[in-house]
Order: sequence, then C-alpha cells, then structure tokens
Amino acid sequence: QKPYVFITRKLPDETLVELNQIAEVKMWPHEEEAVPRDVLLAEARKADGLLTMLSDNFDAELLQQASSLKVVANLAVGYDNIDIKTASNLGITVCNTPDVLTDSTADLAFSLILATARRIVESANYVKEGKWNSWGPLLLAGADVHHKTIGIVGMGRIGEAVARRAKGFDMKILYHNRNRKPEAEVSLNAEYKDFHELLKQSDFVVSLAPLTAETKGMFNREAFQSMKESAIFINVGRGAAVDESALIEALQNKTIAGAGLDVFEKEPIDPKHSLLMMKQVVALPHIGSASVETRMKMAELACRNIVNILNGKEPETPVT
Ligand code: GLV
Ligand code: GLV
Repeated sequence: QKPYVFITRKLPDETLVELNQIAEVKMWPHEEEAVPRDVLLAEARKADGLLTMLSDNFDAELLQQASSLKVVANLAVGYDNIDIKTASNLGITVCNTPDVLTDSTADLAFSLILATARRIVESANYVKEGKWNSWGPLLLAGADVHHKTIGIVGMGRIGEAVARRAKGFDMKILYHNRNRKPEAEVSLNAEYKDFHELLKQSDFVVSLAPLTAETKGMFNREAFQSMKESAIFINVGRGAAVDESALIEALQNKTIAGAGLDVFEKEPIDPKHSLLMMKQVVALPHIGSASVETRMKMAELACRNIVNILNGKEPETPVT
C-alpha cells in the first residue's frame, strides 16, 4: 500500500508528478480557502506526509494525533506555524523551501520600498480615478530611494539579496542580525549596527526577521520612536515582529513617514483595519515569493522533500 499524503491547498498538477508515483495524494481543492481545523485534524491522523501552507497552524495538539506522520513540508521559508520542538520529539521531519524564493522575495521587498517612497499605488489610483488634470511641479512627489540609507533587520539569504539590489541603487547598507555576516560586510559593503543605531540612521528600515521568541514585537513604540521622521518601514518578514498598534500610532503621529507591508499580525487583515485607511501605507496580501516561477519551484521542492523522506532518503531542505 502506498503512503498517504495530504496537501492543504490546491497546487498545479504538474508539480505533483513524482509524488503521485509513490504516494496516494489528496489535495484540499480550494486555492483561496484554508482547510478547516477539523478536516486538518482528520487528515493529519491518517497521513504519512503533509504539504502545508504558512496559514495552517501545526501545533502540538495536531502533531500528537498524527501517529503515522513522517514529514511536514511547509510551502514557505518561514516555519513559525509549526511547533518544531514537538515535531522533532515525535520524530517528524519538518522541511521548508529556502533558496528558491530568495530573489523573488527580495524583488518584492524592493517593490515595496519603491512603491512606498514614490507613492506608486496612490499615483496609479489617481490616474485611474480620473483625477489627473494637469502636470504639477510637486504633484505626488515622493522621496528618493537612491543614495539613501537602508537598514536591513534579518540578514539571511533574502536580506543579502535585498542588499545586492540596494547596492545597485547606490544606497548605504546597514544591517542587524543575530550573527554578524563578515562576507556580506566585505562583498556588499554592509555595516553591522545594533538595533537602535540602525533604526536611528536608516531612511528605509526593512524587516525580514523570522518570527521567533526574540523577534516577536521587536518593532515596538520605542523602536518607531528611534526612527527618523522621514523613515519608511518595510515588512516582508512576519507581521508579529511588529506591535501594530505602535506602528499605527507612529504613522498617525508622523513619528515615521510611511510603511510598506506584505505581512500582518493577523492574516488576512481586516479590511477596516486602521493601517489600510492611511495613504502613506502600501499593504499587500503576503505575496513575497509570489511569482509563478518561484511558486512552482517551491511546490516542486516541497514535493521532493516528501518523496525523499517517504523513500527513506535525506530531504534536501530540512529545518534544522
Ligand atoms: C513566506 O512568508 C515564507 O516564509 O516563505
Ligand atoms: C531566511 O531564512 C532567508 O532566507 O532570508
């Protein structure tokens, strides 16, 4: 009998060819609707492998009932949605999809920097809404990106890819990370700063921090008060690294100038959320890695990880 694999969201069939050969595969048929908890519990109890989304919460309760589960392959580089410690105690391998999404996510981070600084969304809406009557010297004038200072918080692979892009914009590059990155300091001319020094000096503060006990709420009121009044805050990491009420207050009081956000404390964000009411905020629906090419590669990598484990081989990208 073939092992049983459940996929928690609809994926393109062509990414599943290999997996279909070795396993009985069932897929939640909806693209934009998460699996309800009771279905997830029932499937987890039966499954040898699960291919999961960052919106699925894999806590201890769920993992403990998954008695034949060998592998959870998360379609994301982040894995804060999975209780890694419990999984590892139970001998369940957790895999993520690093590397294949690095450049696409860095592109999106840079899109948000440019969109926010140069008021792209506001300007595009202005034209489409028929408000464009005449060219104006300061009409929709924003802030420059080139030659400014970028402060990258979370200098992993994506952080370095953002720094490479920033270099092309002649930016001064500061970074903060748990560990220093001597190679990046040389090759990208990136300067290590402690968190508050980085906040003080940066025109663009870019969070790529994963969600951990140390990063939860690190962008709090004090952090925003350390930033320049002209600063733009960009978040392409995890929403919960930010105290959103402190961010709202900082934007309303003009403690900082704007924000470009791909991630939120609660996703999807409530359409009536204060952050969405401010014109200096560009908000996106967690699309950091969402190019078709990259999402296909992520799905293929997640499937290969499951295939390898179910075949008794080493996975390519286990979470360590
Ligand atoms: C997206 O947020 C990811 O972790 O891949
Ligand atoms: C995080 O793991 C990254 O790739 O930046």
